Amino acid sequence: MPNLPMPMPDLAEPLLSRRQSLGAGLAALLVGVQPWTATAATSAAAVSLGRGIGFRAVPMTVAEPLVVPPGYTARVLYAWGDPTGQAGPQPAWRPDASNSAADQTQQAGMHHDGMAFFPLAGSARHGLLALNHEYTDERVLHADAASLAGGARTAEQVAKSMAAHGVSVVEVKADADGRWSVVRPSRHARRITATTPMRLAGPAAGHALLKTAADPEARRVLGTLGNCAANATPWGTYLTCEENFQGYFEPPPELDAHHRRWGLRSGATGSNGNWTQWHRHEERFDLRRHPNEFHRFGWVVEIDPHDATSTPVKRTALGRAVHEGAAVGVSKDGRAVVFMGEDARFESIFRFVSRDPIRPGGAAANRDLLDHGTLSVARFDAGGRGRWLPLVHGQGPLTAERGFADQAEVVVRSREAADALGATKMDRPEWTAVDAATGEVYITLTNNSARGRPGQPGADAANPRAPNPTGHLLRWRHGGDLAAEVFGWDLFALGGGETPGDAFSSPDGLTIDPRGVMWIATDATPMTQAAPGERLWLPRNQLLACDPTAPGGPQMRRFLVAPEGCEVTGPVVAPDCRTLFVNLQHPDAGWPEAGQRPRSATVVITKDDGGLIGA
Ligand code: FEO
Ligand code: CA
Ligand code: CA
Repeated sequence: MPNLPMPMPDLAEPLLSRRQSLGAGLAALLVGVQPWTATAATSAAAVSLGRGIGFRAVPMTVAEPLVVPPGYTARVLYAWGDPTGQAGPQPAWRPDASNSAADQTQQAGMHHDGMAFFPLAGSARHGLLALNHEYTDERVLHADAASLAGGARTAEQVAKSMAAHGVSVVEVKADADGRWSVVRPSRHARRITATTPMRLAGPAAGHALLKTAADPEARRVLGTLGNCAANATPWGTYLTCEENFQGYFEPPPELDAHHRRWGLRSGATGSNGNWTQWHRHEERFDLRRHPNEFHRFGWVVEIDPHDATSTPVKRTALGRAVHEGAAVGVSKDGRAVVFMGEDARFESIFRFVSRDPIRPGGAAANRDLLDHGTLSVARFDAGGRGRWLPLVHGQGPLTAERGFADQAEVVVRSREAADALGATKMDRPEWTAVDAATGEVYITLTNNSARGRPGQPGADAANPRAPNPTGHLLRWRHGGDLAAEVFGWDLFALGGGETPGDAFSSPDGLTIDPRGVMWIATDATPMTQAAPGERLWLPRNQLLACDPTAPGGPQMRRFLVAPEGCEVTGPVVAPDCRTLFVNLQHPDAGWPEAGQRPRSATVVITKDDGGLIGA
């Protein structure tokens, strides 16, 4: 891209309108923290930004590894094993996986997932990418896959596996030709792993349920894992969500009701869900010896990406769950409102409303904001109505007599609390997204092959298909205030070719960009995809664009077809809407380098004429 053929757009007007819809006081607040302010202030007014989608949809195909529309270019930016950029040796990725555990702490982790972009000095072309490394493929991570037989692991292998989890913070920059690269070295570069010290905060901090031999005060946890979706907050921090944490523990031989409710499986060592076998060299993951370690995961973790020395904080007020995303909106009176899915069959959707308003001044001014507030769970009623049911100790069934001694027990046992309240059991709720312009909130429900099976819930208003192999999206309206107790809702889109435009299955990643365009990333498996010649032939995962406010309803348009075997996740659009970052997770062998072991990667997509992505 040699030059920009058109003046930079004026982002101020439409975004200012959105801010004004949130209230004048909040508008002033956001001017201080939102990334696009400086861009808007320095740009020339020429192009009116809108939600218009103009690119030519790409066909579903297996002919190419990675497909984007004509006039766009996709490049690998940061793949598993690439140096993160901390000062020091910057170890290069070795194709034979012989990098050490120490190397892995200085390199991109595995299985990239949720992601957010944080501008530096207000720039849309220079900033920090924070991204999750959800889990490991141990057969690819280690040089000698045969050595893993029977669950065996060396201490070095466990250390490397733990170092391949967590979060990366990388500094990224576009050059004069619009070509993005990782800045190395960078004082911002950071790897957060399954051993990084973290602080516990909120109602469960200090509670007996979280006390362990290594942490008798229940204030300090080592590490984060299962980091799936992620979101930026309006005050400039990163929320990373611990998803399938139950799969990292060696369970006790006798499971109690809590273990069973949270998906622990018993069995001979190596044949249960403990896929990484960390407990063999890191005994806190052995629940036979340290039962409370189980309660110290499953949280939303807040990270300040601008301070590489900051301590991540597990925010227990937001509840414990197999957490998917944590999308943040703002209430009418300026409080943070966090929407969270729990990705498991027949689990719930949560919302947290902070007690206090967001304060000007960024992360430092809001360091305790997510520790005080009200957690709720959604009940969807027929007729497009619904209610947020408070998960508050002492209210309704959440009493000591019913097994909830205090608020810490409510948040630690949030599934049991949601059951007691009669929350709606959903079809695997994944990412949420808040449309700041309209106040509407969206959620992906990826699929649920078990709905309607004997002994399982059947179809209901908000989960209308039994079984539901291709998933759907719901939309909420809260009457102008995201903190409202009651809401209206409707079915926004149905997978399986039931919504106009390009067919999709298993929606997962979800974001609404600064223009208001919705981006939907899919995570379908071959089992949810039909054969060639049928109407729903979806052999690859994809990224779709949609104008959620289009007259006549949503219309899906396919923007990207992913390499074989991988899911698409973590879409994020830079504040000037001229760059799209997306993660491609767990590709098959041969991507991105032919003939090599597979590497999950962050891909950066730009338009060859420098124009707006998707327009
Ligand atoms: Fe990690 Fe629910 O996807
Ligand atoms: Ca996901
Ligand atoms: Ca998924």
